[in-house]
Amino acid sequence: MSSVIRSSVEYQYASELEILKENDKGISPPGWYLSAISVKKFILGDDTLSISRKFYGDDALVERAIVTLMGYQALLLVGEPGTAKSLLSELLSAAICGDSQKIIQGTAGTTEDHIKYAWNYALLLSDGPSKKSLIPTAILKAMQTGSIARFEEITRCPQEIQDAMISLLSEKQIMIPELSEVQSALPGFNIIATANLHDKGVNEMSSALKRRFNFETVLPIRDKEQEKTLIMQQVSSRLQSQSLDVKMDNNLLDILVTTFSELRGNKESGVKSLDAVLSTAEAVNIAYACTLQTYYVGTKPNSGQIAEQMQGTIIKDKVDDRKKLAHYLDLVIRERVKKDKKWKSFLDTGKLLWMKS
Ligand SMILES: Nc1ncnc2c1ncn2[C@@H]1O[C@H](COP(=O)(O)OP(=O)(O)OP(=O)(O)O)[C@@H](O)[C@H]1O
Ligand SMILES: [Mg+2]
Repeated sequence: MSSVIRSSVEYQYASELEILKENDKGISPPGWYLSAISVKKFILGDDTLSISRKFYGDDALVERAIVTLMGYQALLLVGEPGTAKSLLSELLSAAICGDSQKIIQGTAGTTEDHIKYAWNYALLLSDGPSKKSLIPTAILKAMQTGSIARFEEITRCPQEIQDAMISLLSEKQIMIPELSEVQSALPGFNIIATANLHDKGVNEMSSALKRRFNFETVLPIRDKEQEKTLIMQQVSSRLQSQSLDVKMDNNLLDILVTTFSELRGNKESGVKSLDAVLSTAEAVNIAYACTLQTYYVGTKPNSGQIAEQMQGTIIKDKVDDRKKLAHYLDLVIRERVKKDKKWKSFLDTGKLLWMKS
């Protein structure tokens, strides 16, 4: 059993990174651990080298992201919640520099000290400003080592703090006036930021900062088969990490993916899209919870579990969504149950959850 709940991707896939390095015949950009071609293989998979696919969906986006990071611009991944922006940023950093852990988590409380450098005040008072008393941030460390720094949820930072990035990104250096020093970035340095479209802010980023980023919009997975494969893969790896000998039920997976795809909105059938976020990340959580329920509680896999989990994990207290779900049961599921009995439990549980007044 793994000793941590989740290890970073460079540890999870250390052997794949090694195989790619050994077989790397492509040209590596200055400061990169792997060539651009191998970075792409690490993320999208490669059958001949037995490298697993880790990001599903827009392959061209991955290639564009790699090209951006080779150049002068930084990369900003924007999109709905749960579309694997953070995962993609982690995968890119792990493959490009073998370290995905130089991270700044943007919040309303982020200050310039978190972006540039801070001081160990005890040492600062005793020894004065020195290299020993300087605390480098993820970005400063990335500049010193020529690697990638990740800036998560950049638009949650106050705008004046975001703007500290403007000169840093154009000059590729950080001034440290207290030491009369300038830290210039080594080749290989770049920044991958992420931003959530549900948060206010992407539009409020200053245009000067926007100019320094290439924007890539990460969309939810639309292909049902790809989504199924991904859910199965993610649930299996979570179960394996806990050494649990149980498999996600195939019928349940089918029902989960179908429900999610229909509830994302379908003009033809008249199903209205829910306000709640129905990303693949939520689907993975539901699939995992259902499987754990079967393993630990002994519940026989049934479609009612999905309705229950949906209520707890995504609908919560959203009254309008409950109405839309009641409509969905009436419009689509009632008819479907006549032909396919495995939906009956979904209908019965859904009625109790969403049709009661
Ligand atoms: N296209 C995809 N390829 C691979 N995994 C995906 C994809 N879409 C969603 N996932 C799943 O979603 C999980 C969560 O993704 P992640 O946290 O990176 O999303 P995010 O876009 O950063 O969300 P947030 O905006 O809430 O921070 C991933 O670990 C993975 O299980
Ligand atoms: Mg994220």
